[in-house]
Amino acid sequence: MANTATIEINGQKNELPLIKGTENEIAIDITKLRSATEGVITVDPGYKNTGSCESAITFLDGEKGILRYRGYSIEELAEKADFLEVAYLLIFGELPTKEQNDKFHDDIKAESIVDEDVKKILDAFPKAAHPMGVISSLTSALTAFNPSSVNVDSEEDMYKSVVRILGKFPVLVAWTFRKKEGLPLDYGDNSLGYVENILKMMFVKPNGEYTQNQILVDALDKLLILHADHEQNCSTSTVRIVGSSHAGLFASLSAGISALWGPLHGGANQAVLEMLEAIKADGGDTKKYMAKAKDKSDPFRLMGFGHRVYKNFDPRARIIKKAADEVLGDLGIDDPILDIAKGLEKEALEDQYFVDRRLYPNVDFYSGIIYRGMGIPTDMFTVMFALGRLPGWIAQWREMRLRKEPIGRPRQVYIGETAREFVPIEKR
Ligand code: CMC
Repeated sequence: MANTATIEINGQKNELPLIKGTENEIAIDITKLRSATEGVITVDPGYKNTGSCESAITFLDGEKGILRYRGYSIEELAEKADFLEVAYLLIFGELPTKEQNDKFHDDIKAESIVDEDVKKILDAFPKAAHPMGVISSLTSALTAFNPSSVNVDSEEDMYKSVVRILGKFPVLVAWTFRKKEGLPLDYGDNSLGYVENILKMMFVKPNGEYTQNQILVDALDKLLILHADHEQNCSTSTVRIVGSSHAGLFASLSAGISALWGPLHGGANQAVLEMLEAIKADGGDTKKYMAKAKDKSDPFRLMGFGHRVYKNFDPRARIIKKAADEVLGDLGIDDPILDIAKGLEKEALEDQYFVDRRLYPNVDFYSGIIYRGMGIPTDMFTVMFALGRLPGWIAQWREMRLRKEPIGRPRQVYIGETAREFVPIEKR
């Protein structure tokens, strides 16, 4: 295969190099296009055809429905690894040895104290505040309590920042939840595993012991792994672009959380459940909602369906669907919402509109049903997604800085007024 592409503009031919990834993806390197053509740029709203970087973290083949972290299949990781191993793998590139894993966990535990003054910030939020707004603000506030910026060239410094945020973020998540529930803030128990501790920090009552339920621990561990990275999606690209200005890690993560909040991205898990509830309240008529989703004059979309990259089953959705069945079964929960979801999925998979556009259930279609079974309120779903995505964001931020990527600064094609004379206010 040729290793250049030729672009002809006004009769002038320009050779552009091709880049080939390790999975044989081909990209046209346009970094010299503008200078070689005296100002021609490319336009690609939504970056549907644009690679923003070269990355060695996550591989995704949307046509075949493949997802791998650092070469390991998501199916195998969800089955055999735990969340902290996956976090280590994503951030540092290799699965940890037993020794590295134990140290990683111990170091994270040692960092799981949050400054007491953070409670004052949390206190100032109204109870009705959306938890995503709260967690984004608290993450940003961590910058004030940990002002030294990360020296990415120092492995030690980077490692310290990684364990610091992995230690403190679950505390912020639990506190956000407890504030909403009107429960006293809790620090959990460092003798527990990472995921066990998250559950205890969230659910322990001030007047009783918290008994771990292995079904919930395994389910949350799996959900966090499935959400841990997804290459250059909206929130990850946000983290990378904010970090590209050399803004700090916590500030970049806070921006990523805000990007995740939207219903077209991580906020879809909340939107899915609200949609399923609405269908149930409306008599369970899935056909009516299918028709709405297909009606171009109706803004309604089937939440949890479709994906920018997957034009096949989202492999995470397959795993989550199975987990939803198992978890609800094991917990003895018979949730009519699950039946509505299954009915909707069946209809959509057989419907020409969805078939033609290759719209399949995505990761968010079933995750909310599991969270609900676990007793997590709907508006906390996206926060749980952020908890899972945290290692991916950190890994991508670190990679971007280590590769010394330039500041993200897209160009535009200006379509506004051309030069005109200023008109004084009395003459307008
Ligand atoms: N329901 C109905 N029609 C849809 C849907 C949907 N969920 N998704 C896409 N379409 C249609 C869309 O109207 C368009 O039709 P046409 O070609 O006739 O104009 C076609 O399919 C292509 O859609 P698009 O909006 O151009 O595709 P996109 O890549 O820009 O958007 C998406 C991808 C995920 C934002 C979109 O599919 C969507 O809004 N889905 C619902 C929200 C959702 O579940 N988001 C979670 C995504 S996965 C997790 C994550 O990213 O965090």
